[in-house]
Amino acid sequence: MVTGIRLMVLLAAGATGLLVLAACLFAAGASGNRPLPPPALKGIKSLEETLAARRSVRRFGAEALSAEQISQLCWAAQGITDKARGYRTCPSAGATYPLELYVVTADGVDHYRPAGHALERHRDGDLRRALQEASLHQTFVGQAPATFVITVVVPRTERKYRERAIRYVHMEAGHCGQNILLQAVALGLGAVPVGAFGDEAVAKVLSLPPEHAPLYLIPVGHPEGTR
Ligand SMILES: Cc1cc2nc3c(=O)[nH]c(=O)nc-3n(C[C@H](O)[C@H](O)[C@H](O)COP(=O)(O)O)c2cc1C
Repeated sequence: MVTGIRLMVLLAAGATGLLVLAACLFAAGASGNRPLPPPALKGIKSLEETLAARRSVRRFGAEALSAEQISQLCWAAQGITDKARGYRTCPSAGATYPLELYVVTADGVDHYRPAGHALERHRDGDLRRALQEASLHQTFVGQAPATFVITVVVPRTERKYRERAIRYVHMEAGHCGQNILLQAVALGLGAVPVGAFGDEAVAKVLSLPPEHAPLYLIPVGHPEGTR
């Protein structure tokens, strides 16, 4: 009898565990992606106020960015704004969309997936210090709670534009970077564009796929002394 009750308790515990696991998998999405909160389409600062306030910020408080802030910054960088055609916040030569965005935080490295507005875990662990070393030891790269890494897959644009592609993808990285910089200001955050880094060193630290070449790093955080 006691054995029977034990068996039932074990079965019930097992079933509960399976239910919890299923709920977690559902929340993470079938692909393992973590959906981000929906982006806000209205802000407090006007575009003009945002442009006037933008300044490179290189001193950050330790506070992490919220899921809402990361969501908004990813959306500003590469979010889909025309679902029917897949067009994004950022213009793209011939809509070839060569850019891939990664977010480096204390938790790990996430790959932004515009379709589904979700993050996919790329690597676990805090790699910010290693990213700082790969960025000519610029200390704010290690201190920022989040660094947005814009990478490019050149062949996507090359197929259509041949030798013009290199010029186009650099222009696109500029558009994307500026979107992140302005969105950061509009959220009351600070950011700085970083071009000085070792391409191979950054790719190695972040274990980037060989076709994802890093072009631009944008550390973002709360400007020191504002919180
Ligand atoms: C393509 C590019 C690369 C940059 N790389 C770095 C960098 O590696 N480190 C850094 O501290 N600032 C970097 N900056 C930021 C500039 O130093 C900064 O924009 C400039 O001093 C003007 O200041 P402001 O951004 O506050 O207007 C970069 C800016 C651009 C546009």
